[in-house]
Amino acid sequence: MTRFAVLGTGRIGEMHAEIISQQPDASVSWCYDLDGDRAQATAEKVGARASNDVDAILGADDVDAVLIASPTNTHVELILKSAEAGKPILCEKPIDVDINKVEECRERLRSFDVPLQLGFNRRFDPSHRAVAEAVARGEVGPLELLVITSRDPGPPPPRPILEACGGLFRDTTIHDFDMARFVLGEEPVEIYAMAANRVDPIFAELNDVDTAMIVMRAESGALVHINNSRRTNYGYDQRVEAFGSEGMVRSNNHRPTEVSRYSGAGTQRRDELLYFFIERYRAAYEGEIRDFIGSLNEGRPPSVSFEDGRRALLLSEAAIESFRENRPVTVNFD
Ligand SMILES: NC(=O)c1ccc[n+]([C@@H]2O[C@H](COP(=O)([O-])OP(=O)(O)OC[C@H]3O[C@@H](n4cnc5c(N)ncnc54)[C@H](O)[C@@H]3O)[C@@H](O)[C@H]2O)c1
Repeated sequence: MTRFAVLGTGRIGEMHAEIISQQPDASVSWCYDLDGDRAQATAEKVGARASNDVDAILGADDVDAVLIASPTNTHVELILKSAEAGKPILCEKPIDVDINKVEECRERLRSFDVPLQLGFNRRFDPSHRAVAEAVARGEVGPLELLVITSRDPGPPPPRPILEACGGLFRDTTIHDFDMARFVLGEEPVEIYAMAANRVDPIFAELNDVDTAMIVMRAESGALVHINNSRRTNYGYDQRVEAFGSEGMVRSNNHRPTEVSRYSGAGTQRRDELLYFFIERYRAAYEGEIRDFIGSLNEGRPPSVSFEDGRRALLLSEAAIESFRENRPVTVNFD
């Protein structure tokens, strides 16, 4: 059994706690949240206990691993505390929105031999993963174009989430940067980003953008395009398309069923797209937890590393620089 402490039981932490509690070889022992009622409510749902003493939780004998799902600006502190306590860590993305804090955390983690997996759940989505595997097998020939469409059905609540999220590139596009690196199997070397305010005035008020188009060139010369919006009126739009001389592989949007309806009102009418991340990526979140537990049981390194989180954030920083200066930027991972 892998017994977890879940730190942060908001939107995503509660879901992770439920998924863990449904695994045959895992359980949640402790829930912690700054809002004690939230921690208590999740703890009751998953058969755990709640505490407001994070140090006591991290020192407890019935904690084999920690899942960090608190706000982004608390991740580094909780990662370091967990590492000091010797507990393996599964931490939500991004590591932090401040690259200097991430670099400092990287240095400090060198003194601890603790596995850390970063929450790039989309790598575990069966459809996106099948695209990455097809590319790796050479099914499309040498990859020429990779197109990632990633549009949210609506913005997160303005406070505290939007205000503290670090902006579109660090909060949302970071998933797409990771997906690009995952499918490419190599690094992007150059990036050009354009962005705009087309959705809601709140983004401009927060000095953020809500719409973006990004182009990257990979080491091999393959080109990548990412497009983002903070709003659709048709659900969560998540597609990945890989193209080369031998063909194309595409991961399509998901619906609750594959039924099509025909009537006087229209033909081939299908269910609406699954609404947002909790619904669309359920299998991915389960896969992420299974892979983390598997890595602990098998003694292998987690398949999504701190360095993956750092590199995706460095791509976010390069995109911001490109957007602000309106020019292509060379990517530097040093
Ligand atoms: N991988 C994904 O698909 C995905 C999706 C959503 C959010 N996230 C990430 O998960 C994290 C949480 O996001 P959310 O949407 O669940 O936010 P949320 O605001 O819904 O939940 C955060 C919770 O943490 C609690 N909290 C605040 N300060 C805390 C502290 N110091 N210690 C412990 N708990 C504290 C809050 O009370 C709240 O319950 C963010 O880093 C976000 O980027 C990832």
